[in-house]
Amino acid sequence: MRLTEQDHLFVLTGAGISAESGLATFRGSGGLWNGYRVEQVATPEAWAADPALVWHFYSQRRRNASSAQPNAAHLALAKIEQHLGDRFYLCTQNVDELHERAGSQRIHHMHGNLFQSRCTRCNQPFPDTALYETATTLPQCDRCQAPIRPHIVWFGEIPLDMDTIYRKLNEATVLVVVGTSGSVYPAAGLVHIANQQRTHTIYLGPEAPLNHEAFDEILLGTATELLPTLVP
Ligand code: APR
Repeated sequence: MRLTEQDHLFVLTGAGISAESGLATFRGSGGLWNGYRVEQVATPEAWAADPALVWHFYSQRRRNASSAQPNAAHLALAKIEQHLGDRFYLCTQNVDELHERAGSQRIHHMHGNLFQSRCTRCNQPFPDTALYETATTLPQCDRCQAPIRPHIVWFGEIPLDMDTIYRKLNEATVLVVVGTSGSVYPAAGLVHIANQQRTHTIYLGPEAPLNHEAFDEILLGTATELLPTLVP
C-alpha cells in the first residue's frame, strides 16, 4: 500500500499489535486468567459480585503492561503519524499505553485505559494510581464515597466516544486494521461502514480475522513484520 497526499488513514488496532511486546491476546491465550474466563472478570456483573477480584485482575494486567515495551509495530504507527499529521487517526481496542509510549498522539482508546480509573457514581477520575496498587480496601471517591472502578469498557458496555470514531472513519480514504480477531462489536463493524463509503480496507495479522470477507486486502504476517513496510 502506498499512501498519496490525498489519503486519510484510519488505523484500528487490537491485542495482536501488543503480542510481540509480550502481552497476551484475549482469544489466543484461551481467554483464561487464573482459571476464570475473561468474560467472568471483565463485566459489570463480575464487578457487582466481587470487585476485589476485578481489581486484582486489572492490577495484574497493569503491571504486565507497565513492564512491556513498545515494539516495531507501535513505533511504525507513530512514524506514519509524523508523516501524515492530521490525516492520521488511531483507534485502539487496547487498554495498554504502548501506542503513546511509542509516540502516537492522535489516539483514542475505545475500550478504556488500564492506567485510569473513575468513580462508579459521579465518574470523577481517580488520580492516585499508587493507592489502588497497595490498598487493602478498595479505593473510594473522595467526593461521594462510591467505589472507584477501572476506566475500562467491560463486556456489555458501550465503547467510549463512538461519535468521534464514526466521524474520523467518515473522513478516511484508507482503513488499516491490525491484530484483532474481528469478534467484538462495534469495533469489528467499522470495516463494514468503511465498505459502504468505499474506503479501501486492509487487514494485517498472522491469520484472517472472523470478518475477513469485508476486507479488500488481507496481508498475513505479524504486526512487526508488516507495519514497518507501510512507513512512507
Ligand atoms: N501481530 C498481529 N496480530 C497478531 C499477532 C501479531 N504478532 N499475534 C496474534 N495476532 C492476532 C490474532 O491472530 C488475533 O486475530 O491478534 C488477534 C487477537 O485477537 P483477540 O485476542 O480477540 O483480541 P482483540 O480482537 O483485540 O479483542 C477485542 O475483546 O476481550 C475484549 O475488550 C477486549 O479489546 C478486547 C476485545
